[in-house]
Amino acid sequence: MEALKIASILLLYGVFSAALPTSSKPTFNWTDTQSLITFGDSYTYVQGIDGYANSTFIGSRLDFAFNASELLSNRIVQNQTATAEGGPNWVEYLTGCALKPGLTAPITCRPQLWDFAFGGSDISEQYTPLHHNWTVSFVNQIKQFSDYAQPVLSKFLNPREALIGVWIGINDIGDSDKYNITKPNFPGFPSFYNTIQTTEYAAVQQLHDRFGYRNFVFFTLPPLDRTPGNVASSAPNPNATMVGWYNSGLASHTAAFAAANPDSNVMLFDAHAVLGRILDAPAGYGIRNTTGYCPEYNAPDILTDPEKYGCLPQEEYFWFNTGHLTSHVHRILAGELEEFLVGQGK
Ligand SMILES: *[C@@H]1O[C@H](CO)[C@@H](O)[C@H](O)[C@H]1NC(C)=O
Ligand SMILES: *[C@@H]1O[C@H](CO)[C@@H](O)[C@H](O)[C@H]1NC(C)=O
Ligand SMILES: *[C@@H]1O[C@H](CO)[C@@H](O)[C@H](O)[C@H]1NC(C)=O
Ligand SMILES: *[C@@H]1O[C@H](CO)[C@@H](O)[C@H](O)[C@H]1NC(C)=O
Ligand SMILES: *[C@@H]1O[C@H](CO)[C@@H](O)[C@H](O)[C@H]1NC(C)=O
Ligand SMILES: *[C@@H]1O[C@H](CO)[C@@H](O)[C@H](O)[C@H]1NC(C)=O
Ligand SMILES: *[C@@H]1O[C@H](CO)[C@@H](O)[C@H](O)[C@H]1NC(C)=O
Ligand SMILES: *[C@@H]1O[C@H](CO)[C@@H](O)[C@H](O)[C@H]1NC(C)=O
Repeated sequence: MEALKIASILLLYGVFSAALPTSSKPTFNWTDTQSLITFGDSYTYVQGIDGYANSTFIGSRLDFAFNASELLSNRIVQNQTATAEGGPNWVEYLTGCALKPGLTAPITCRPQLWDFAFGGSDISEQYTPLHHNWTVSFVNQIKQFSDYAQPVLSKFLNPREALIGVWIGINDIGDSDKYNITKPNFPGFPSFYNTIQTTEYAAVQQLHDRFGYRNFVFFTLPPLDRTPGNVASSAPNPNATMVGWYNSGLASHTAAFAAANPDSNVMLFDAHAVLGRILDAPAGYGIRNTTGYCPEYNAPDILTDPEKYGCLPQEEYFWFNTGHLTSHVHRILAGELEEFLVGQGK
């Protein structure tokens, strides 16, 4: 309070910058952001020509290291099967990067898109089993980025002008039920979520402490209790209560992360609220089916001839398959996210 008063007095005399404490928070400006660096799971990954198939931009758990020329010569692939959505996903809509079919070098995009998310990822192998032996967990994505990408990117990418995007937990919330609930020592979901989220935010803290990243956006979990399988089930996994527990944990951890890093812009994008609004009033978004999905979502002619499979056009579905959103929903989400990010600078 006192510091703030002194600062405003100094501002009156035009000496604010000289008195500015070094830990002061820079203004976040999305329009000025030069790169988006992301970590997460299938909702967030983009396919790279050097990435494990249907999983990631670069490498895998079995092929963890890469060098500068591999990173810089790699390309994002865009085609019908290059994301988990049948088309571009939120990172691509938000940055405008790799929206066109074919190959795109991240470095040619404004902002650049450096995406280390991995399909099927959970936060850490410490808590839930890997989906596959090639799956790179969230904490390993941060390690892979730190060891192999950051030394290359630091030559041209200013951490202060980058935004770190984190959307993780979608697999964890399902897996924690599958693997932990029957154990006698299981501490209960809120406590378990708190444990895995503590690990998640500690990993992100490294990006701040070691490399100087200062802008972070975290996402809440989607309404996973409303997937086609869960709306049809008498025992949804997860149910709305569990998603609520998970998301209030994310809100607490994000607030604590913001308090611990007063020199940073720390944001929580409420994807749960945005997606819930779409599910509650789909017609306004041109969506006609929120409870099912087209079983032939991967047919090569599904975009041009959905009637052949007894389906609506893909963009009229909310769900792409059992657990993923359609590309159309990702586009809406990215639009809302952009508005949210632009609003932060004001
Ligand atoms: C953000 O950056 C853009 C481009 O440099 C600039 O035009 C705009 O005024 C900035 N906005 C704020 C709120 O500083
Ligand atoms: C980078 O890795 C590739 C693939 O392993 C290898 O062919 C290439 O020689 C390496 N480049 C450098 C500069 O080490
Ligand atoms: C999409 O790109 C991937 C990676 O290059 C390729 O393996 C796959 O066959 C392509 N799929 C389509 C439908 O073109
Ligand atoms: C990747 O997904 C496509 C269809 O989406 C499938 O045909 C292909 O076998 C998958 N590749 C691997 C290695 O799993
Ligand atoms: C959850 O299950 C995994 C896999 O069996 C195990 O490694 C982990 O320790 C368990 N966590 C808790 C809190 O019980
Ligand atoms: C990884 O898993 C695949 C399929 O489950 C198996 O064929 C392969 O041998 C495993 N690789 C390693 C290094 O364990
Ligand atoms: C959801 O699941 C949790 C954990 O099993 C349980 O405690 C809670 O009562 C369930 N909520 C509803 C509304 O069924
Ligand atoms: C939603 O789409 C699926 C697949 O096309 C279909 O089976 C289901 O009947 C549809 N639901 C509604 C309410 O139209």
